[in-house]
Amino acid sequence: MINDVKEILLSEEDIDKLVKEIADKINEDYKDKNLLLICVLKGSVCFMSDLMKAIKIPCKIDFMAAKSYGASTETSGVVNITYDIKYDIQDYDLLIVEDIFDSGRTLEKLTKVLKARNPKSVECCSLLDKPDRRAKEVELQLKYTGAKIPDAFVVGYGLDYDEKYRNMPFVGILKPEVYTK
Ligand code: IMP
Ligand code: MG
Repeated sequence: MINDVKEILLSEEDIDKLVKEIADKINEDYKDKNLLLICVLKGSVCFMSDLMKAIKIPCKIDFMAAKSYGASTETSGVVNITYDIKYDIQDYDLLIVEDIFDSGRTLEKLTKVLKARNPKSVECCSLLDKPDRRAKEVELQLKYTGAKIPDAFVVGYGLDYDEKYRNMPFVGILKPEVYTK
């Protein structure tokens, strides 16, 4: 797998530091709230798992899945929810936990869908942010982001290309020849 990586963007140590910084803010901001973390499958599993362990206040967790990518590096523009949370969320302060904020369409859609169910609040947290790729129509602002990254296709720490590379413990830029061949 490592041979397909052009450059390591975030090492395990870098990620660890970013996760702890975000968790510290959540610990403070949500101490008097009723926190429900929502992990966006599958890309956010590594981030969610580390983040929830660094959160020291009571919280619950649930999962959602959304699909906008196929075996390609470009978004299709249409976001479908393929797995939904099981909680009745009216009494909860939701924090959606995402791997990467790219076009922004996934988080915008999930936020809209969840807000319509009248929870106490809905905010988003993404480990990575690719600001250069944001779709023009997306207005959503994230409450927490780990690192801004350049416009390159990245894999590892949950992020995949064609369902592979999720189990690499760091975030790296995939060699373009891997997805253009
Ligand atoms: P968005 O809706 O365009 O913001 O894309 C969100 C989803 O696309 C993320 O949850 C990822 O699953 C996927 N994605 C976007 N950029 C990358 C990337 O560089 N590598 C792997 N997956 C990506
Ligand atoms: Mg994803």
